[in-house]
Amino acid sequence: MAAADNWGWTTKPAIAIAVAATSATVITVISARFLHKKIKSLNSKVSDLENQWISERRGRIRAQQDLRKALAQDKSDHGLKGISYPLAPIAVVQSCFSTRNGTPRQPLLVPLARACLLFDLNRVPPSSLEGLAEYSHCWIIYIFHMNTNLDKLWKDPLRSTKAKVRVPKLKGAKKGVFATRSPHRPCPIGLTVAKVEAVQGHMVLLSGVDLVDGTPVLDIKPYLPYCDSIKGAQVPEWVEEDGLLATATVKFTGDFYSSLSDCWAKVEKNSFYASCDELERFIKQVLSWDIRSVYQRVRPHEPVFKGESNLEGYVASGLEEDNVKDFYRNEGGLTQDVLYHLLLESLKISYRIDRYTNVVVENISLESAVNTDHKRHGYMTWRHALILKGSLEATAPETYPKHTHEGLLLRAGG
Ligand SMILES: *[C@@H]1O[C@H](CO)[C@@H](O)[C@H](O)[C@H]1NC(C)=O
Repeated sequence: MAAADNWGWTTKPAIAIAVAATSATVITVISARFLHKKIKSLNSKVSDLENQWISERRGRIRAQQDLRKALAQDKSDHGLKGISYPLAPIAVVQSCFSTRNGTPRQPLLVPLARACLLFDLNRVPPSSLEGLAEYSHCWIIYIFHMNTNLDKLWKDPLRSTKAKVRVPKLKGAKKGVFATRSPHRPCPIGLTVAKVEAVQGHMVLLSGVDLVDGTPVLDIKPYLPYCDSIKGAQVPEWVEEDGLLATATVKFTGDFYSSLSDCWAKVEKNSFYASCDELERFIKQVLSWDIRSVYQRVRPHEPVFKGESNLEGYVASGLEEDNVKDFYRNEGGLTQDVLYHLLLESLKISYRIDRYTNVVVENISLESAVNTDHKRHGYMTWRHALILKGSLEATAPETYPKHTHEGLLLRAGG
């Protein structure tokens, strides 16, 4: 076979050249005629296709015009009716905040507040997160999934949210919902910012979060200080007065300390914290803000789970105006002897707060109502990243002053 091939290779080109030489003119004549015909038929095909394309295009434009016209005729909702968009959560939050109660009102107030974003591998591959760790902070767009009116919002959007909401900093006075960050809004979408601690596979570790466990996340975007931080941006005076909601002192009782190590042994495996000490520092940071909602202050005896009303202290529908007025008339004085409960890392933290906002943490116990079975990507998952960060930041000055907002990247509204 090899020999035959060899022979073929050397002789075939010679024969081909000879044939080409003798019939060159004939081929030229034939091919000229042939090409002429071919070009003619192609031209007519092109013009057919053009006509077809034009009419298809006309058809498309007409269809679009018809759609716009149809939408314009429905003046009631400016053509938004029946349009749906492909938005669905891409990630879920595993947070140190077991419930809404105790979740900070603004981002970055509690530097040790940690959460893991767990991305859905069916919707986004891990490579989507490449490069995110090069930013110090990111925006998180999420759903207020714990709002109690979500089903009503679907059926009757106009009647299930209020145009005006009570603002805690204004002692219960009202503002238009879009002048606040109340979770009770016509489209229950939240926006927050957090520190990016580390990225690993399809997970992101964040800190300074104000997100509750289980929050569905729609999107994250890097925080860009050169355009996201606006120099000289103005806010109403009531938003400026952040200090109103800071507590004076936070102290722990002996009972707390004697229960702490026992509790720690039970949650250690799933915790976002490295040690008892770090957990205690985290609790102290959370309680250095008055986290009670207006509802809790008005009806302090309601149990945490049933009485949970809202994330940011805004009054949800269902709270009678009289109670709110009573509360503000009494300056919160009625609440002095009440034992409040806070759920962090599946632990129930009991505390009292006096009228001068001195906090005493009375005790800590395991909260059995919180499901601790699901696999948490806690401290051990992030150990190396956190230790590395810790050693780098140990030399840097404290970036989060305790009760002032200086140095915060975001001027969060109320
Ligand atoms: C504190 O909580 C522990 C459970 O963690 C409980 O056994 C103890 O009795 C509590 N102490 C007080 C004074 O309530």
